[in-house]
Amino acid sequence: MKLQDSKLNSLNDYKEAYKAAVENPESFWGEIANTFEWNTPFNKVLEYDWNGEPKTEWFSGGKLNITANCLDRHVKTNPDKVALIWEPNEPQDKAIKLTYKELLESVCKFANALKNIGVSKGDRVCLYLPMVPELTIAVLACARIGAIHSVVFAGFSASALAARIQDSGSSFLITADGGFRGDKTIPLKDIADDALKSCDTIKKCVVLQHTFESVSWNKSMDLWWHDFIDGLSSVCAPEIMDSEDVLFILYTSGSTGKPKGMVHTCGGYMVYTAYSFMNVFQYNQDDIFWCTADIGWITGHSYMVYGPLALGATSVHFEGVPSHPKWNRFWDVCEKHKVTHFYTAPTAIRALAKHPTTHITKHDLSSLKVLGSVGEPINEEAWNWFDTYVGKNKLPIVDTWWQTETGGILISNLAGVTPQKPTFATLPLPGIQTALIDDKGNVLMNKEAEGILAVNFPWPSIARTIWGDHKRYQEVYFSAFPGHYFPGDGALRDLDGNYRITGRVDDVVIVSGHNLGTAPIENSINEHPKVVESAVVGYPHDIKGNALMAYVILYEATNDPELLIQEIRTLISNTIGPIAKPDRVLIVSGLPKTRSGKIMRRILRKLASNETDQLGDVSTLLNPDIVDEIKRELTI
Ligand code: WT7
Repeated sequence: MKLQDSKLNSLNDYKEAYKAAVENPESFWGEIANTFEWNTPFNKVLEYDWNGEPKTEWFSGGKLNITANCLDRHVKTNPDKVALIWEPNEPQDKAIKLTYKELLESVCKFANALKNIGVSKGDRVCLYLPMVPELTIAVLACARIGAIHSVVFAGFSASALAARIQDSGSSFLITADGGFRGDKTIPLKDIADDALKSCDTIKKCVVLQHTFESVSWNKSMDLWWHDFIDGLSSVCAPEIMDSEDVLFILYTSGSTGKPKGMVHTCGGYMVYTAYSFMNVFQYNQDDIFWCTADIGWITGHSYMVYGPLALGATSVHFEGVPSHPKWNRFWDVCEKHKVTHFYTAPTAIRALAKHPTTHITKHDLSSLKVLGSVGEPINEEAWNWFDTYVGKNKLPIVDTWWQTETGGILISNLAGVTPQKPTFATLPLPGIQTALIDDKGNVLMNKEAEGILAVNFPWPSIARTIWGDHKRYQEVYFSAFPGHYFPGDGALRDLDGNYRITGRVDDVVIVSGHNLGTAPIENSINEHPKVVESAVVGYPHDIKGNALMAYVILYEATNDPELLIQEIRTLISNTIGPIAKPDRVLIVSGLPKTRSGKIMRRILRKLASNETDQLGDVSTLLNPDIVDEIKRELTI
């Protein structure tokens, strides 16, 4: 069997596959996994125990290298096929195309360079790079030699980078002089230097020349990328990995200040990203797939690097932003590269929808076949705009629900194959056994129901643990409803079994598609010497999906509140990153609290959302008067 034989071509195919995967998961996934190249075949498809200390193992005993599957396999049959089209920030004609053969050679070269400085299997390598082809090359070079990559989004601050380097114990850092973002440059090397002041595990820092701005240089530590690979062989044998060896760590925010390093392993992640990529997007061999995400997020890992490459696909990687130099940039790129699949985020769609549709109509978008959305619930207005103006009411839109933790898409329609329903992610993929649970832990048996989403059975790409903290993994994902995986989202289900994700049920807010824990932002605000306590909540925002509002209590009144608010915003920007800056900061004399002292975020959310008639009974609060005070402050 070939992987393509498991392509679902009709609703009936989907139903049959879903049934087969429930009835006999081992033979279902075993057959699919066998379409890949294994150096040693696996002897057990699945072993798991989700009661007590959660353990999930897929394809045990199997040995492989994911890059042999993503690169060498295709080089043998189709070396000159384009793997990657890179579109730079500036729209001049400087796009770069890398064929499978060229990509493999660059990966091997960089892998040899990593080996030369002593990187070996299991070492953590931190990648802090702009969206350039070298980021993909570095990711795959790590995987080639069995080093664990930890990509940190290049919009994160020095202290966020430092925290991730420290937590992962990375011994090498790969960065660049800087990155371009619209008309701005970001001084990545300076930020990295700052971060490294508090990281003692890093032995070498490799620096890519990209913006060509001058940078400070530490001779004992820094190496230029071009010197690093100079003269090295472009052949490097892949390290043979166990299916359950760690492939990468990727950090995501949690509800405490410390980010969670989600750990993904080789075999299951490869199988599921490839299978879901092929089926959700209905990718065909000559298609040009463009996901507008950054490789710093899981979307980039799974659907810009590993999933598409495992399938031998052609992917567009874009360094820029939708607004630069004008709001037609996305459509310009679609037309130029004859993009067939366009996968983006609701926040981008809402921002685009604010601008005249002439930005779209002046471009020939006839190459497009499939549109996709990811990152947060897509509201009806945004869905309709995407459908009307980009899809011309003809193209399927896949609404893909998943998480950093799930590794791949768990709930989505399959483009043109299973029914779509605006604002619904619709049906779980084969192998994904979803359930809705009420807050007492009862499984809701009615088809039509609303509750907390859970997954009852393992799928191959579930994150296996939190790096260095298996206990936290158990607590966060497996303790709410023992025996079930708990993603932290609420959902409702219609009579046809379609799921609509309603949003987070924990203290994580999705702002412009970025998953932000409110706790780390509060911690950062509380570092300000004038601040006693703070609470951060999300409220609806017509472009970002959610915006943040910070309620802040001060030790004593300030005569320059504007300055203080500015200081708080800068503090957040420096400790977490500009994406975490709250839209509104409100200085208050107290926060609504329960008698046990817990901040009532629900009330703060309602106040921020201007839903003051839905506060419910506030009389049981420790300090009910504060609610009126905040209401008054908000209307000033
Ligand atoms: C959270 C995960 C998956 C890659 C990007 C985000 C929300 C994601 C959808 C969707 C409704 C969605 C959920 C989820 N989310 N996709 N199609 N519909 N909500 O990954 O940063 O790990 O965030 O994003 O709340 O739990 P992430």
